[in-house]
Amino acid sequence: MKAINREKLSAVSAAELAVFNARTVKSEALLQRGKKSMVKGVPMSWMYGLYRHHSLYVSHGDGSCFFDVDGNRYTDFNVVDLAVTMGFNNPHIQKAVAEGMHRGAHFLLPIEEAIDVCENLAQRTGVPFWQFTLSASGANTEVIRIARTITRRNKILVFEGHYHGHIDDTMLEKSDGTIRPYVLGLPAGAAKGVEIVPFNDLAALEEKLQTGDIALVLTEPALSNCTLVLPEPGYLDQVYALCQRYGTLFCLDEAHNFSFAYGGLTKAWQLKSDFLVLGKGLGSGIPFALYGMSSEVASFVDAHTQIDLEQPGIAAGGTTYANTLSVLAAKAALEQVLTPENYDRTNALGLTLAQGLQQHFDQLELPWKALHLGPRSGYCLQPQLPKNGAEAYASIDIAFISARKLFMANRGCWDAMATAGPQISFAHTATDVERYLSVAREFLEAIC
Ligand SMILES: Cc1ncc(COP(=O)(O)O)c(C=O)c1O
Repeated sequence: MKAINREKLSAVSAAELAVFNARTVKSEALLQRGKKSMVKGVPMSWMYGLYRHHSLYVSHGDGSCFFDVDGNRYTDFNVVDLAVTMGFNNPHIQKAVAEGMHRGAHFLLPIEEAIDVCENLAQRTGVPFWQFTLSASGANTEVIRIARTITRRNKILVFEGHYHGHIDDTMLEKSDGTIRPYVLGLPAGAAKGVEIVPFNDLAALEEKLQTGDIALVLTEPALSNCTLVLPEPGYLDQVYALCQRYGTLFCLDEAHNFSFAYGGLTKAWQLKSDFLVLGKGLGSGIPFALYGMSSEVASFVDAHTQIDLEQPGIAAGGTTYANTLSVLAAKAALEQVLTPENYDRTNALGLTLAQGLQQHFDQLELPWKALHLGPRSGYCLQPQLPKNGAEAYASIDIAFISARKLFMANRGCWDAMATAGPQISFAHTATDVERYLSVAREFLEAIC
C-alpha cells in the first residue's frame, strides 16, 4: 500500500505557493493596503487564519464559481463553509433580496413572509415553533439559555469534534481527560459549564447524564466540522431516549446538515429533538438563522417572554433579527431552490464525487476511504471511517490539506477548509465534479 511521500508533498507545496503568489498579486496588494486599517488586512482576523497562503480578495461570484481581483476563477467546493449553498448570484434569491430592499430592509416588526418560512419549515421537519436570529451561533446561544432556564441546570454536553459557532459555552475541547478552551478570551470557569464525550458512545453519555446536572445535549446529527462522522444506526434515537430519561433537553444543530437532505437529517432519519437549529446557507450569505422547538418548549418561552421592563424573560433577539432581506431570501430558498428534485440532483453529484475519490484511492493503492453523506465528500486518510471526533481528527493533516488547497486553487478549484471536505452546492454541475476529480487525481499522483 502507498502513503503520502512527505518530501514530495513539501516540494509540491512550495512550488504551488510560488505559483499562487504570482497569480494573485492584486489580492496581495489589497491585503497590504488593508493591513493599515484592519487587523491582518482582512475584515475578521479569523478569515486570515483559515488559510496557509495569503487571503484572496474577491471581485464577484456566479453560480458555483467566484473570481478574485486578479481575474482568476474558482469553482467553490468549500461552498463558503456552507454559508452559500444556493450558489452565488442565484436569480431567485437576487429577486427576493431586491424586493426586500424596495419594501424596506427592516422594521423591527414582523413581515408576513416570516410565517411562510416557519410554516414551510414546520411542514418539512415536523418541528412546530420557530424563532429567528442572525447566525447559528446566536441560535445555539439562545437554545442554551432556554434549556438552562427550563431545567434549572447549568451544564451542557457536546461531543468531541463538535463546532457550534463562536460561543463561549462550546469553544472548549477535551484533551488528556481535561476540558479546556481552544481559543483565548473565554470567561474563567467556562470549562465547568460543559461536558465533552465521544460521539457514538452511549455508555459515556449516560454516565454524564446520570449526574442530573446536564441541561442540554447539543450535537449535529452527522458531525461535519471534524471532516465527517456519521452516527451509528439508531444512535441518535438512543441519545434522545437517554435525554428524556434524565430530564435533559436535546438540540440538533443542522446549520450544515440541512443541506444534506430535504427536511435536513431530522426528516431524512426521522429524528426527534427538543430544538432544531438552522442557518448559514438558508440565508444565501445574508445573515440569517433560526431555531425550532417543540410545543412544550414553545409554551415555556411564551410564558417567559420579556415584556418591556415589567417582566424579565429569556434573553433573546436583536435589533436586526428577522429583517426583510434575510426573511425573503430564506423564503425564496425554501420555496424555489430547496426542492426535493434539487436535493436529489446535488446528492447524485455528491455520490459521483465520493465514488470518484474512492476510485482514485483504490487505483493509487492508498488505504483511504472517501467520506460521504449526500452532497458532502472528503478524505479519510485511514482504512476505516471515523466513529468519533478523535478518530476523525487523524485525517486533519494540515500539510496534506494546505498543499491540496493550493494545488487545486492554481487549477481553478477552491477546495474545502481543513475541518471539512469538498461539497456540492445547489449550483454545481456534473462538469464541476469532473474537474474536481481530475485535479484531485493529478494532485494525489504528485504526492504519493
Ligand atoms: C454546526 C454548526 N453550528 C453553528 C455554526 C455557527 O454558524 P454561524 O457562523 O452562522 O454562527 C456552524 C458554523 O460553521 C456550524 O457548522
